[in-house]
Amino acid sequence: MLWTALCVLVLSEEVRSDSVFKAKVPRPDLYDGPAVLQGQHHTRPLKGGLDPEVNMNISEIIHRWGYPVEEYDVVTEDGYILSLNRMPRGLGQEASGPRPAVLLQHGLLAAGSNWITNPPNSSLGYVLADAGYDVWLGNSRGNTWSRRHVSLDPEEDDFWKFSYDEMAQKDLPAMVDYILKVTGQEKISYIGHSQGTTIAFIAFSSMPELASKIKLFVGLAPVATMKFSRSPMTKLAVLPDFLVWDLFGRQNFLPQSDMIKWFAENFCSKAVLRELCGNIFFLLCGFDEQNLNMTRTPVYTTHCPAGTSVQNMVHWSQAVHGGRLMGYDYGKRGNMVHYNQSTPPLYNVMDMKVPTALFTGDTIHWQTPRTWLSCSLRSPTWCSTSTSSTGSIWISSGVWTPLTPCSKTSSSSCSATNETRD
Ligand SMILES: *[C@@H]1O[C@H](CO)[C@@H](O)[C@H](O)[C@H]1NC(C)=O
Ligand SMILES: *[C@@H]1O[C@H](CO)[C@@H](O)[C@H](O)[C@H]1NC(C)=O
Ligand SMILES: *[C@@H]1O[C@H](CO)[C@@H](O)[C@H](O)[C@H]1NC(C)=O
Ligand SMILES: *[C@@H]1O[C@H](CO)[C@@H](O)[C@H](O)[C@H]1NC(C)=O
Ligand SMILES: *[C@@H]1O[C@H](CO)[C@@H](O)[C@H](O)[C@H]1NC(C)=O
Repeated sequence: MLWTALCVLVLSEEVRSDSVFKAKVPRPDLYDGPAVLQGQHHTRPLKGGLDPEVNMNISEIIHRWGYPVEEYDVVTEDGYILSLNRMPRGLGQEASGPRPAVLLQHGLLAAGSNWITNPPNSSLGYVLADAGYDVWLGNSRGNTWSRRHVSLDPEEDDFWKFSYDEMAQKDLPAMVDYILKVTGQEKISYIGHSQGTTIAFIAFSSMPELASKIKLFVGLAPVATMKFSRSPMTKLAVLPDFLVWDLFGRQNFLPQSDMIKWFAENFCSKAVLRELCGNIFFLLCGFDEQNLNMTRTPVYTTHCPAGTSVQNMVHWSQAVHGGRLMGYDYGKRGNMVHYNQSTPPLYNVMDMKVPTALFTGDTIHWQTPRTWLSCSLRSPTWCSTSTSSTGSIWISSGVWTPLTPCSKTSSSSCSATNETRD
């Protein structure tokens, strides 16, 4: 645990003192999508047999596997420019008629690349495209691909004043509306992983109009409360807020930088260190070694962690302390300014009216227990659980139980749930 904290600290210090990533402010030109990749496969020189995907962006990786790909920029109500990737069809499929659209939303410190960094038969993104879906990959504000704004510069502190609250209230509606506009469909399905489910719980419970546009919400390793979290990341929460701000500054937390790329290229490609890298990835991004393809750790590590704001980490730390799903706590005075009340608003997952399917594993550190969720959710809810492994993002080697209506379990476990909720 200590080691994790150290590793996080060392990485962030390195990143802060390293000005390399500053030179990497993403391209300023805006374009109206789609930017469709065409032509030959990219043939970049392999550095020491390194997987070329280490140096590719999301569209390029998808293109490399022969899948059609499009890229769009979505501007949120408050000016953030988000990158959306789309796989309109599967491998070698003809464009024919509308396909049901599905938005995949990554978790904390991750990126849309999570859904496509394994080979096609074991990445959910490709599997869905091949199965007939119109697949959209979201990127939350502040990550590698969505670090742009119409007027703010990522060099400014103001750019980084957001947490998963804004990802829920601003990013999600913008992405959903954009997909509906492009596809002409009335509803889409939503698949979230970890923080991607938290965003959904907040957004769908507090914005009924947005909720009405969601056909089905699939939650992988769902997180609605941090009460039960066992993630090493939660150790960060033992630090008081002001210390977090002090240690990590006011901007981005672990941005995807040349430093991390360098680390991946020089260490993770060495056989002996692969396992260690897999573990670092696991610790930072919350995945299970069992479900990683160890020869691909350099690819995972350069694409994740993909950065988020320090404010987002502080919000998570507040969630661990408070145990409840609520808005960012600006302190009494700040809360009056932001919310016109002295405490942050609470979100009530019970208010969510979207049909929901939950996939929970045994060893996922952050997730909220199934009993808590099934007792809390009023909307139709189905559950599946994996006993032998986690593997929610990637098609897992684990065994999943069939998806069936979640039992509301015994009244005793539900009242235990009520206690922790209230
Ligand atoms: C990804 O790479 C393609 C091809 O090089 C380029 O057109 C596109 O703008 C890149 N996307 C991002 C988000 O950098
Ligand atoms: C995917 O394909 C590889 C290589 O053919 C195979 O070894 C692996 O078991 C497959 N994975 C799944 C989940 O089917
Ligand atoms: C693991 O990744 C390597 C390199 O990309 C690939 O050749 C291999 O098929 C993958 N293995 C599985 C089981 O998917
Ligand atoms: C702030 O809250 C007070 C008391 O609840 C209410 O009277 C007032 O209208 C609110 N102001 C705004 C701007 O919403
Ligand atoms: C838990 O709370 C819900 C809503 O407040 C209530 O309907 C339910 O009866 C409670 N369950 C138990 C076992 O107390």
